[in-house]
Amino acid sequence: YGTSSINEKGHLTIGGVDTIELANEFGTPLYVYDTQLIRERARGFKETFEKLGVSSQVAYASKAFSSIAMIQLIAEEGLSLDVVSGGELYTALKAGFDPEKIHFHGNNKSPEEIAMALDANIGCFVVDNFYEIELLSRICAEKDKSASILLRVTPGIEAHTHDYILTGQEDSKFGFDLQNGQAEEALKMVLKDRYFNVLGLHCHIGSQIFETTGFIMAAEKMIEKMAAWSTALDFKAQVLNLGGGFGIRYTKEDEPLAPGKYVEDIITKVKQLMTEHQLSMPEIWIEPGRSLTGDAGTTLYKIGSSKHVPDVRNYLAVDGGMSDNIRPALYNARYEAVIANRPEDKADSIVSIAGKCCESGDMLIWDLPITKHEPGDVLAVFCTGAYGYAMANNYNRIPRPAVVFAENGQAELVIERESYEDLIRHDLPLKHSGVD
Ligand code: LLP
Repeated sequence: YGTSSINEKGHLTIGGVDTIELANEFGTPLYVYDTQLIRERARGFKETFEKLGVSSQVAYASKAFSSIAMIQLIAEEGLSLDVVSGGELYTALKAGFDPEKIHFHGNNKSPEEIAMALDANIGCFVVDNFYEIELLSRICAEKDKSASILLRVTPGIEAHTHDYILTGQEDSKFGFDLQNGQAEEALKMVLKDRYFNVLGLHCHIGSQIFETTGFIMAAEKMIEKMAAWSTALDFKAQVLNLGGGFGIRYTKEDEPLAPGKYVEDIITKVKQLMTEHQLSMPEIWIEPGRSLTGDAGTTLYKIGSSKHVPDVRNYLAVDGGMSDNIRPALYNARYEAVIANRPEDKADSIVSIAGKCCESGDMLIWDLPITKHEPGDVLAVFCTGAYGYAMANNYNRIPRPAVVFAENGQAELVIERESYEDLIRHDLPLKHSGVD
């Protein structure tokens, strides 16, 4: 995985740093990011567009993992940024990210969030619904400011890993339906509004997708409409945003394409469709989240208790769980893991990795082949870099772990571990006692 390797002590290393030393220095659970891998992925996306001669913006979907240092790394790599809340926007601005390169998503942006984004002069609002058109227009008028916008449309294609579903009218909380006239109605509204600079269209068809078929089908539907609207409404889209969703390899069974390959195949087809419809090629924007950070992240845990259920299963518990990785409990997500102090030793037993939360569903990995181990050993779970820390929580009042970036043999703490004090920071004592 990534630049993980094995050093002379036989320990797993990430970004050239010994994971056992990391666990000792920063404690566990610990998220460790191989930042060189994130950089390579970012450059890979950009280079693919350059190779194809297509102008583009690659926006990191910061919902996958956002922190000050992460956003700074994205800025260093020259990417744009997708934010979906006031909190993600705040983090980006505090990280000094160029507001011009921020795209604001969300199906229920609040008036306060919209005002905050307008005040910050962000690059683009991805407008999701009729209420937002009115709200954004009204706040623009109050501030006498204009906004660049994309319209989020639902092209009636939903993709999940290998499957894509074609739905006449998509049952989704996001965006304007392309098929039933909603998108056209919305477009007419925004084109009339003097506060809006309408850049183009956006769609996002799903996440952890292994094939390009769904993307191409969605693009095809959007391009057909773009051609129709170019004639009927004299609307020439300057931007076509195809969202994120490129799959990654969590386990051996997963067979995603290489990140650049998704872009290459999709864009080649998009170019061809544009020519067929006699449209000039717009700027293509994408929004990868998982494919930039997913396999760059590894979680280190300390092994603790175990339980043998005769003839059934061996449970092995670690010092984290659904509080730092809710994906197995929420999506049946699967992961691979090794004992970080002896990753090369042959697996000689099968265990199921349990978390420490008070809930039977708090299982991280079922039936993991594992080598000899004892309490205190470090378990490294791979591919936890996207939607891991981002979805971490304080269930059972477990403090969120720390995050470390590792690159060229150097480790840098980028998010401190929460303390017990942090956990009660916003708690207020009972003022009115019901007892005399
Ligand atoms: N753009 C939009 C509009 C999105 O809604 C998403 C993800 C992305 C981009 C980035 O997608 P990615 O490249 O990361 O697949 N919590 C779930 C994933 C939810 C994805 C939501 N939207 C998980 O842990 O699998």
